[in-house]
Amino acid sequence: MIRPVELIQRKRDGEELPADELRELVLAYARGDVPDYQMAAFCMAVYFRGLSSAETFALTDAMIASGETLDLGAALGRKVVDKHSTGGVGDKTSIAVGPIVAACGVPFGKMSGRGLGHTGGTLDKLESIPGFRVELTTEEFVDQVREVGLAIVGQSADLVPADKRLYGLRDVTATVDQVSLIAASIMSKKLAAGADAIVLDVKVGDGAFMKTLDEARELAEAMLALGREAGREVVCLLTDMDQPLGHAIGNALEVREAVATIRGDGPPDFTELVLDASARLLALSDLGVDAGEGRRRAEQATRDGSATAAYERWIRAQGGDPDETVLERAPVVRDVHARASGVVASVGAIGIAHSALHLGAGRQTRNAPIDHAVGVVCLKKRGDKTREGDVLAQVHARDEASADAAAAEVLAAYRIVDAAPPARGILLDVIA
Ligand code: URA
Repeated sequence: MIRPVELIQRKRDGEELPADELRELVLAYARGDVPDYQMAAFCMAVYFRGLSSAETFALTDAMIASGETLDLGAALGRKVVDKHSTGGVGDKTSIAVGPIVAACGVPFGKMSGRGLGHTGGTLDKLESIPGFRVELTTEEFVDQVREVGLAIVGQSADLVPADKRLYGLRDVTATVDQVSLIAASIMSKKLAAGADAIVLDVKVGDGAFMKTLDEARELAEAMLALGREAGREVVCLLTDMDQPLGHAIGNALEVREAVATIRGDGPPDFTELVLDASARLLALSDLGVDAGEGRRRAEQATRDGSATAAYERWIRAQGGDPDETVLERAPVVRDVHARASGVVASVGAIGIAHSALHLGAGRQTRNAPIDHAVGVVCLKKRGDKTREGDVLAQVHARDEASADAAAAEVLAAYRIVDAAPPARGILLDVIA
């Protein structure tokens, strides 16, 4: 029998822990036999001391062993692909990628999360669609992927319960942004859900957990190693999160932008990421196409209406109404004007995320309700020219007072300079 306090102390002092002891700790925590305060102390020791790759494998394995596993590929008799993002601001990528990939004939079944820290969660965004159900049983999930070709659901209670508890604990103990903990959290869910091939969107910059390309590469390598060990194909896209993705930040606003992107009317940076991720998922699938042909098919699906049709089938299958006009709108829309002429040098993702959070688009405390209608639309992005008085952004608020406060925060997030900053695309690197 392990003594948690001893493991905390040994990790605190920099010792490498054996796999069996780590496993016992994680399984005991998942059963409720180790209290939150001890696991929080352990996570903080890991935050400062890190985990070796052997320890990261052991942690991931133990998290998978804490619950059931699913073999979606065997259930469907097809190679199944999956995607996951490490978390960003305005990141509605899965809501657009799922229908595009499904329209191209590849089954897409994904378990998503809620907001974590300053980042939004796909489930919260989908719940802005009236009637949409994120809680499906495992059987309903598998049936829907088989029959409709697409399902995005909440993580089932049976799958990786250790991550479910740990994720919530890390969120409130400042232990989210640690490479091994993020790698084990993401890969335990991906491996337990049974996809054969996985595209990971590793966000880099101000609005991401990984602030630099070097940190993001380290996280990508850690997740690739876990995937390789489990015999899965993994491709990591390192993508820019110095500014929010696309224009919209906030739940219903983001769903509207994802729907526009599915029909080919999305903002350039978001469209590029969606098409690139879709192309790579198609190239990993059993269609037998390369990424170039995958890209052509993904673009075609957005042009010919088949991706929109897949979106509508999917939303209806999960009880939602796909008509965009039913998405709630905030009663107050406030323009934020530029105070100077020049070029937008940066739109701070964290500053915009905090303004959206203060408007009510995210949770300030656990289990707090979310206001699906509110958020921010960043009309000007890095590199855009602007004149004094131009509208930089719009704040969508519940009332005038919260609109005032958010407008000031949004203005502070914009930096306007005389000379254009060096151009930078959304895709920074690919590691496979
Ligand atoms: N997303 C996850 O699923 N887990 C993390 O730890 C961070 C982002």
